[in-house]
Amino acid sequence: MSERAAPIACRPVTPDDAAAITDLFGANSICRGCWCMHWRVEKGGKSWQACWGEPNRRAFLKLLKQGQVQGALAFAEDKPVGWCNFGPREDFPRLKRSRVLAYKPTPQTWSVNCFFITAGWRKRGIAGALLKTAAKTAFDRGARVLEAYPTPQKPGQNLVAPFAWTGTRALFAKAGFKPSAENERVWVKKRR
Ligand SMILES: CC(C)(COP(=O)(O)OP(=O)(O)OC[C@H]1O[C@@H](n2cnc3c(N)ncnc32)[C@H](O)[C@@H]1OP(=O)(O)O)[C@@H](O)C(=O)NCCC(=O)NCCS
Repeated sequence: MSERAAPIACRPVTPDDAAAITDLFGANSICRGCWCMHWRVEKGGKSWQACWGEPNRRAFLKLLKQGQVQGALAFAEDKPVGWCNFGPREDFPRLKRSRVLAYKPTPQTWSVNCFFITAGWRKRGIAGALLKTAAKTAFDRGARVLEAYPTPQKPGQNLVAPFAWTGTRALFAKAGFKPSAENERVWVKKRR
């Protein structure tokens, strides 16, 4: 079987996944700066620039070890090929500072806010599979509402992959998310 034909398995991240995360993020120039800390560091600008790279790596791996990171990983056999970040909205203070994503969440709202699929593995449903795992895990762990911020897109537009890191509209629409009445940039899905 060729590597690309390997079956994909998704599961929630655990505190023991530092090696898989390091393998996945360390190989990409944006991920090895951000380490999925974008929404966790309250301020942008200079404070964010100061965290880029090693400080973010240390902070993320510490949170992971402490069991404070929610997320889903995708594997092709043993190789980590995808990541979806999610968690209670309160874990992501930067969301509160975003004017474009201004929104008044109801209690127990969780946020699904970042994806990364390794180049060469994109457009074969891995983000969709990760979102399925993320939604199930979040609802099982107490979320009542899930919130997401799909990248703005013209009909039929192919987005430049790194700019679609919060996910695409098609991805969330397929999973049952809808634009909220309050802010069309914020899409929501309620627990049944
Ligand atoms: C955006 C991204 C997450 C999509 O992942 P993926 O596994 O290719 O997505 P899927 O195959 O599950 O596709 C889901 C839907 O989104 C659509 N889609 C995927 N990539 C797209 C793109 N670049 N432009 C437009 N639509 C796109 C798919 O067509 C599909 O819709 P469909 O079912 O109607 O065809 C992926 O390209 C990626 O990881 N980009 C890099 C993001 C990044 O840099 N993150 C790091 C931040 S530090």
